Amino acid sequence: MSNEEVIASIADHIKAKFESEGTGHDWWHMYRVWQMAKQIGEKEGVDMLIVELGALLHDIEDWKFHNGDDTVGPKAARELLETYNVDEKVVNEVVHIIENISYKGAGVENKMGSKEGFVVQDADRIDAIGAIGIARTFAYGGAHNRLIYDPNVSPTMHQTKEAYAKDDGHTINHFYEKLLLLKDRMNTKTGKEIAEERHAFLEKYLEQFYKEWNVTE
Ligand code: ADP
Ligand code: NI
Repeated sequence: MSNEEVIASIADHIKAKFESEGTGHDWWHMYRVWQMAKQIGEKEGVDMLIVELGALLHDIEDWKFHNGDDTVGPKAARELLETYNVDEKVVNEVVHIIENISYKGAGVENKMGSKEGFVVQDADRIDAIGAIGIARTFAYGGAHNRLIYDPNVSPTMHQTKEAYAKDDGHTINHFYEKLLLLKDRMNTKTGKEIAEERHAFLEKYLEQFYKEWNVTE
């Protein structure tokens, strides 16, 4: 199989698996991250096979849905790639991306260690901000029975992934705990540029949200 055929076949596999997912991790998230990663990767001069496979497989299993076990995704990706006889070096690079892509709290260090990983992580984070990021965040909040907002509960700057995963606060807090922090954590110049506009939209959205919330002011 050519690289293009492997990518197309894995895209089909992921599409079938995530078509009707309702928490913001649906196929279209994978698709957008894939397209965005291609766009950023082409400007950053990286190995595009690793970038495309990493983007398509980055959320193959979610640690938050496996009792915090973050080895399930990398293992599933490795097994899938091995069935296509993908070169072992490429498999290891893709697995490294999946192991390190996830945001795990404001105070938790990012251990991504490859150029290809930086590209895929930026693409994933871009999909977590802006209008689409807002939609995904409320979809996640709804799927987990979270309140939209509670003015009496302040955000938490989580220092461990356990504390981050356990938090069941309202969804507006998630903006402060993750979304608004992403712009300054972009890895690539291209990613940073794209994030600026989406970040500005988050700020505008919150301004309007509080204006509507404070009816009596
Ligand atoms: P990603 O695909 O960016 O790694 P996650 O797996 O962390 O994202 O979460 C999927 C979506 O749900 C993202 O848009 C994210 O911001 C949102 N999300 C994650 N945790 C929460 C939360 N506690 N409250 C609201 N939204 C959340
Ligand atoms: Ni993702």
